[in-house]
Amino acid sequence: MFKRISGMVLAGLTAMSVAACGGGTGGGATGGGGDSITMGFSQVGAESGWRTANTKSVQDSAKNANITLKFSDAQQKQENQIKAIRSYIQQKVDIIAFSPVVESGWDTVLKEAKDAKIPVILTDRAVDSKDTSLYKTFLGSDFVEEGKKAGQWLVEEYKSSTDPVKIVELQGTTGSAPANDRKAGFQDVIKAETKFEIIASQTGDFTRAKGKEVMEAFLKSNPDIDVLYAHNDDMGLGAIEAIEGAGKVPGKDIKIITVDAVKDGMQALADGKINFIVECSPLLGPQLMDLAKKVLKGEQVPARVVTEETTFNQEQAKQALSSRQY
Ligand code: AHR
Repeated sequence: MFKRISGMVLAGLTAMSVAACGGGTGGGATGGGGDSITMGFSQVGAESGWRTANTKSVQDSAKNANITLKFSDAQQKQENQIKAIRSYIQQKVDIIAFSPVVESGWDTVLKEAKDAKIPVILTDRAVDSKDTSLYKTFLGSDFVEEGKKAGQWLVEEYKSSTDPVKIVELQGTTGSAPANDRKAGFQDVIKAETKFEIIASQTGDFTRAKGKEVMEAFLKSNPDIDVLYAHNDDMGLGAIEAIEGAGKVPGKDIKIITVDAVKDGMQALADGKINFIVECSPLLGPQLMDLAKKVLKGEQVPARVVTEETTFNQEQAKQALSSRQY
């Protein structure tokens, strides 16, 4: 493994490079390039089209970067992620990366990794640890910004209306960064106008099945829904089935805003069933492997790397569909 080889051969250089760059928990690794690196990656699960694309991006990029990947799927459970991280520490991998299912409760295990001198990279989702030395960098989207973009579209869409706008919200996994932040960003924008009212808000756990189930319940207790804001495409797609099942027309009777822009979501947008999608890119693999190599070489990396993203209306979706990678 990278750490062992470089630790023996380049011990002196290691000390120099860590000292020169500073800010590192070490890991004892130096060099990169031809040395073999083992990364332990703990994935959230397989809850959405976004997640499937993200897993593929990480696996493909590891192969391309000549990094040995130990991959585990936590099935949306924090306890499974903690177990996986502990097992990576025991196996003495060179670097650990993970997408934390929820924001809280990571300090102990991250401290264990730090004590073992194994650097950690957060991908996709953040943790709320006060001690930012527990991880090297956080690569992923700005979820608050995504929520704001969703809110801005809504404000623009209803700018000439004074009637009340009744909104239902399908939240992502409770306690997860995207659920917390997409909610906060959206509310921050719409709160300026009293005509907007969130009449129901519940988690659909980022899955299509739960999105459908919760939307069915929303429709039963609220006959006059104007807008659905779903924190991802999959929940929005499930909700579309519920709306059609209730005899209403998605995109017309109920306007729909989602986040992600995976192919299925983009197809529904092009078909007029969704009105607006805020993009969240799952293609984090190449940047993750780059950052991992830099960290292990002792190079300084930015504390935060934000993914570049856009938004799509129905016309833009029609144009973009054929070249969509995920
Ligand atoms: O953390 C990113 C979110 O997780 C995606 O928006 C959602 O689809 C996924 O499950």
